[in-house]
Order: sequence, then structure tokens, then C-alpha cells
Amino acid sequence: MVEHLLLSELDAVLRQAQDELAQAGDSEALESWRVSYMGRRGHLTLLLRQVGSLPEEERRTVGAGVNQAKDTLEQLLSERQNSLREAEASRWLEEGSIDVTLPGRPLSVGRLHPTTQIVREICDAFVSMGFDIAEGPEVEWESYNFDALNIPRDHPARDMWDTLWVDWTDPTDQGRRMLMRTHTSPMQARIMESTQPPVRVLVPGKCYRYEAADATHEWHFYQVEGLAVDKGITFADLKGTLYEFARRMFGAERRVRFSCNYYPFVEPGADMAIDCFACKGDGCRICKNTGWIEIMGSGMVHPRVLEGVGYDPEVYTGFAFGMGPERIAMLKYGIEDIRLFYSNDVRFLRQF
Ligand code: PHE
Repeated sequence: MVEHLLLSELDAVLRQAQDELAQAGDSEALESWRVSYMGRRGHLTLLLRQVGSLPEEERRTVGAGVNQAKDTLEQLLSERQNSLREAEASRWLEEGSIDVTLPGRPLSVGRLHPTTQIVREICDAFVSMGFDIAEGPEVEWESYNFDALNIPRDHPARDMWDTLWVDWTDPTDQGRRMLMRTHTSPMQARIMESTQPPVRVLVPGKCYRYEAADATHEWHFYQVEGLAVDKGITFADLKGTLYEFARRMFGAERRVRFSCNYYPFVEPGADMAIDCFACKGDGCRICKNTGWIEIMGSGMVHPRVLEGVGYDPEVYTGFAFGMGPERIAMLKYGIEDIRLFYSNDVRFLRQF
């Protein structure tokens, strides 16, 4: 076969390219070399364009030749780039501008937020006692947040939860209202509505209250709710379960104290306190000189709450409790201001 004119031209271009590449001494020169051969108007590109207008039988051989030349040039270019880079690196080393004996900078590894850690610790303690975990909506119906919990509209007990209402008009004209849930207790009714006893469930989640923030109050915070309902559950089960939790969370030597308190959705209702782990009950700053620290509200599920979800209170009984994990973290780690949990200050967060 006769050597095609284009192919001999290609040969010349290739040889010239190789010579010029060997001369290119830095990345700028490499780039202008690349443009002059492989750029839009580069020698090789122009040759490749001419291939299109060749007669059919020549197109294939010549085209393959040009393409192969392009591969060759690309490979030569990357080899040249590598050797230039190596030369530059060894020059740097010789000049001493890099100290290869310096230790590297450590990468800082992320970690879980202290609230998340405590919530998980609380969950673990109850999961090992047979509880499931469930989560629910933060934007909640008034009916679940209040009515289903035996707190009817206009009942003064609603004042216990300063409420953030959601600006929403019921399109069905039933006067339903929505709010940011003020506690995780609305999940009690949601869970019982959709399951049959026995129920043993733990509900961690975010809550909101229309409240001014200070060292011990945030307007948004976490709660962990607990609920156990079955035949024959008594106050002794409540005490035993929560006592066991306190010992797992705060140490095996912990003692607990229950004192009456009013929550509309339990009867009887009680707050649970642990003996102060800091002063062992002598009285100190953490326990405000009382020797006791309150950690949660609790009680036997009110018969009206059970009735409301279709459970027969003559057959089933249960207990419920609710605690604030940030408060528990504050006690456990001696944190003095609840706002620290939400200030995103890594100097604080890094300690946990
Ligand atoms: N939901 C109550 C609160 O936010 C706490 C609680 C839960 C009390 C369950 C008793 C039983 O104050």
C-alpha cells in the first residue's frame, strides 16, 4: 500500500512533538505544548479533521494512525508530567524546604453530641429490660398533646406546659389545632391506639415550650418517655424498673426516693429522686443541700387515658415516666448551663 500523504505528515508532527516535549521544562510549557498539538486548533486535531474528507477506503487506516498518534502523545505528556513533578519534589527536598521528619497534623475525628450519647445510654438501659424504642412527630395535634392525656381544653393544668402553637387553620372546619409538642407523652396514646398490650416502649425525642431560656431551661430540649401497660402491672413494677434504671445510670449504690406529684395523665403521680452522688446525701451545690436530686416524673397511667385509647382499665394497668436527658447529662457531668447543649461551641462538645 502506498504511504498516504497524511500519514507521512503525521510522522513529522509526531517527531516534532516529541522533540518539543523534551524541551518543555515546567508545567506552563507543558500546557502550551498540549494546546499546540492537542488543543482545538492543534496540529493533531487539524490532521484528524482532514481524515473526515478522505475517501472511504483510506479513512480507516489513516484515522487509526492519527488516533494512535494521539494516544502516544497523551502518554508521553503524562510521563513528562510525572518526571517533572519528581524532579521538582527532589529539588524541594534538597533545598530543605520540606522537613519530612515533622510529624503529620492529626485529623480531628467527629463524635456524638453529649445529648445523643446520654439518650443512647438511657435507651440501652431500658432496652436491656425489654423495652422497644419508638419515635413520634414533633409537630403534634392538640388532641394527642393534651386531650388524650386527660388535659381537656381550658383545664388549668395546661398551664404546666407553655405551648408554641403552629399557625395552621383546619381546612375541614373541625377546629383541630397543631402545636410543637410540649412533651413526649402524646406518644403514649399514639402507641396504645395502634397496638395491643403488652406495651413496653421508650420514646426519645425533641420537645418545645414557649419559655425564656436560662441556665436550667431551654425552649427546645429532649425528653425520654417510658410506657409499660399489661395485665397486673402495679406501682411496685414502676418502682423496681426505675430503681434499676437509676442504678445503671448513676451507680449501683444509688438510692431512690419517690414523692407525690400531680400530672393529669397518671394516678397516682410521683417524682423520682436519686440520692446525691456528689455528696452521698450530705448536701452540696448539685443537690441544693437537700441530699436528693429529682430526675423524672412518673406514675400509674390514668384510667381515663387507657379508656381513651380503647383499653379496658379494669383489665389493664400500666406505668409511665418522663425525663429530660440534658438534665441527666448535666448531673452526670457537672454541666452548669443547659444552653451549652445548643450553642455549638466545640470547646464544650469536645469534652464528651
Ligand atoms: N410529660 C411530663 C412532663 O413533661 C412528664 C411525665 C411523663 C410525668 C410521664 C409522668 C409520666 O412534665
